[in-house]
Amino acid sequence: MHLSVLVCLLVAMLVCLVQDSISCSCQPSHPQDHFCRSAYVIRARVTTKELIYPEPQPEPMAESSSFSEVSFSDSDWGIDNEGPIMDQSEGLLAASMNLAAMPRLPQVRVPAGLQAPQYMEENRPIKLEYTVKVEKIYKGDDLLMPKSTAKIATAAIDAACGVTDLEVGQVYVLAGTFYNAELRISSCNWKEGYKNITKRQRQGIKHTYKLQCGKCEISPCYGRYCPTEPVPDVCMWDLSHLRDDCESQYAYCSRDGSGQCFWNGKTDMRRCIRRRAKGRTQSRGGFMP
Ligand SMILES: *[C@@H]1O[C@H](CO)[C@@H](O)[C@H](O)[C@H]1NC(C)=O
Repeated sequence: MHLSVLVCLLVAMLVCLVQDSISCSCQPSHPQDHFCRSAYVIRARVTTKELIYPEPQPEPMAESSSFSEVSFSDSDWGIDNEGPIMDQSEGLLAASMNLAAMPRLPQVRVPAGLQAPQYMEENRPIKLEYTVKVEKIYKGDDLLMPKSTAKIATAAIDAACGVTDLEVGQVYVLAGTFYNAELRISSCNWKEGYKNITKRQRQGIKHTYKLQCGKCEISPCYGRYCPTEPVPDVCMWDLSHLRDDCESQYAYCSRDGSGQCFWNGKTDMRRCIRRRAKGRTQSRGGFMP
């Protein structure tokens, strides 16, 4: 019995480890929160998409073989010398997974979708870099110039929270961070085809969201676990309505005259809520999966 408990624990730990190492998970975030938390929010057209590889280091293995010769002849076991070699390989691995830890290495650019030259294939790309034509700046005019070209970096793979699916030629709303003198975006930030956002979201990024930053908290909840009474200083955001996320599409969170936080929306919001309520009673009756 003890053994089976142990095995269960081990399996659970392994699952956690594997999930940790290969997946990206983000807290759901309302567009208003994306806006308020991002360093920049822009409308931009993607013009290029390139994978950036570390430039091959001149014969890195030669160093380690000469190191073993030296250490034997010196009768010094080279423990001090071992450090930098380990650090370098770990640094490269960390860099491919985590942009924050990225060392400033010489870089090689390869347009995404093209095959990397063979000598690069053992190296993982350091990052994916988009060049965008900035059409409009909603936030971050200290970081970007209107009508300019900007580079936005992201992790090279989805599992490291990279935004890998932007298409050249398409116009997007992009929101992200500024780190190490670099504009960045991750799949936990906001990106959406500009044509796909609603009129209310456009108004939001133009002016309404900004006025609400720092005032109320938007707190996700799920279905019947959502509080039924209003919570002070909070707009509860029910994530159980995947298809009709009325709060994201048609509303922003603000305070009413009495100081209570609420979802501020117009007729399209009310229509969405009615549609959603109908869908729910239908699904209770078994009309929807
Ligand atoms: C807009 O939404 C559609 C449907 O969800 C999606 O297929 C399309 O890729 C989106 N467009 C952009 C530019 O993201």
